Amino acid sequence: MKFFEEKRREVMKHIEKYMLEKMHEFLKPIDEIWQPSDLLPDSTRDTFFTEIKELQESAAGLSYDLVAVLIGDTITEEALPTYESWLSMVEGVDKDQHNGWMTWTRHWTAEENRHGDLLNKYLYLSGRVNMRAMEVSTQYLIADGFDIGTGTDPYRNFIYTSFQEMATNVSHRRVASLAKRDGDTLLSKMCGVIAADEARHAKAYKHFISKIFEVDANEAMLAFEDMMRKKIVMPAHFLREVGLKIGQTFGHFTDAAERLNVYTAVDYVDILKTLIDDWQIESMTELNEAGEKARDYIVRLPDRLLRVAERMKNPMLEYKFSWIYG
Ligand SMILES: [Fe+2]
Ligand SMILES: [Fe+2]
Repeated sequence: MKFFEEKRREVMKHIEKYMLEKMHEFLKPIDEIWQPSDLLPDSTRDTFFTEIKELQESAAGLSYDLVAVLIGDTITEEALPTYESWLSMVEGVDKDQHNGWMTWTRHWTAEENRHGDLLNKYLYLSGRVNMRAMEVSTQYLIADGFDIGTGTDPYRNFIYTSFQEMATNVSHRRVASLAKRDGDTLLSKMCGVIAADEARHAKAYKHFISKIFEVDANEAMLAFEDMMRKKIVMPAHFLREVGLKIGQTFGHFTDAAERLNVYTAVDYVDILKTLIDDWQIESMTELNEAGEKARDYIVRLPDRLLRVAERMKNPMLEYKFSWIYG
């Protein structure tokens, strides 16, 4: 039997060609894709100050929880250096490579970088946010990193990113509709275009895992089981505010998201169900005993989690974030 790392590198090399083949479908050409300035007031125009005034009038109608969630989402996006450095440490991603997995990581990062950029500028202009407090949280989150239990295993990493890209698609999409409800059509549009990017990224990572299942089903199944046993933690789980300890703000952020129905325990189950369907887990038969056990655990998990989710109460605890004025 080959060493774990060696086998992983071999599989990554094998599926690299499928990634390169489809990269231009999963990531849009840079010259054509939207940029933050397409959606923001242009400071070189005479209309700039009127546009800012309009932006602030719309932002004034956003609920407290929605602003809190939007800030948490923005900080999560702004911690991109953590995600890029983590992806480049994955087995099979060669740092000096110019057209392999490192290319994917760079191009994916380049697309993602627009998300934090756009939301940060919007929040700065909105007049609702204590930018300094938010910036402190961002710097803390990047400095604190994260601990998501994937190690350098590409299978666990791509299972995590498949899940997480779907989760961000759901949450940005929901923020878009709540912003619209609160009368902020500009913010709604912003979150809508970001959500569309996340959907494409989810498709990519799911495709990579499908390809891995074709050549190494047992190990992929065990990796999936392992990630689900550990639970998929959000990348911002170490979120904190000035004066607080590592991770102390995170629960308040997820409570606000739960209250608003932006991202809930039921969404977690729905994403898991989608992955099970997309990867055709249930009908996978060419497995050894451990693989079969892992498959059965995964297939039964959504019902179990749903029962837990149904018993969960909507978090009511009010919390005052240092990020928000008033
Ligand atoms: Fe993003
Ligand atoms: Fe993303």
